[in-house]
Amino acid sequence: MDYDPRSEPHNLAHDPTTSLVVPRPIGWITTISPTGVINLAPYSFFNLIASHPPFVMFASNTRKHSQRHAQSGNEFVFNLAIYDLRIEMNITGGEYAEDVSEPELAKLAMAPSRFVKPPRVARSPVALECLHSQTVPLVSSDGKKHNYEVVIGEVVNVHIDDAVIVDRMIDMSRIRPIARLGYRGDYTVVDNIFEMKRV
Ligand SMILES: Cc1cc2nc3c(=O)[nH]c(=O)nc-3n(C[C@H](O)[C@H](O)[C@H](O)COP(=O)(O)O)c2cc1C
Repeated sequence: MDYDPRSEPHNLAHDPTTSLVVPRPIGWITTISPTGVINLAPYSFFNLIASHPPFVMFASNTRKHSQRHAQSGNEFVFNLAIYDLRIEMNITGGEYAEDVSEPELAKLAMAPSRFVKPPRVARSPVALECLHSQTVPLVSSDGKKHNYEVVIGEVVNVHIDDAVIVDRMIDMSRIRPIARLGYRGDYTVVDNIFEMKRV
């Protein structure tokens, strides 16, 4: 089948596009509100978009708290979502008022970051401290503004739990990151790794 998502129906049970680019890593984003409330929320429209130096992005469907705080405070932290924290991650994905602190709600201990004010999730083995670089609105070819805006961050500190470093390499089997699949409740966990030498 083929369809033009701008104008043609897919005739499937759900919009398939989010099931077609998978798995999507989860950016578990910490920010701080202007009144000092610690905010934590998952974003699966997330990725590392450059290295040397690294940049990351997450896309917000309307200007949610994470986007607004990343812009107003100029900082955010990416925490790696892992299988052992899947329940807590899911709790933080609920829609809460701005004065609700999701880490408290999910009973998640936070640890101070090195260079930025938003703290990291203490039990997440990887955290990237970011400075807000720019926010890019998405505009369709017909000039219509999309609901989504892309928030880009420059990574200024990389935190790695020493316990997941083995022989000077990151041991994924000790991390078990989770990622989003297409339909609403579907996830995957990285627990199967194969190697292929580059040609
Ligand atoms: C696994 C997962 C991934 C999500 N990905 C996104 C996303 O990419 N963009 C988005 O706008 N909302 C996404 N959401 C929903 C937000 O996490 C939710 O709207 C949350 O309340 C936003 O919080 P905030 O307003 O504190 O930023 C996702 C939720 C879950 C559980």
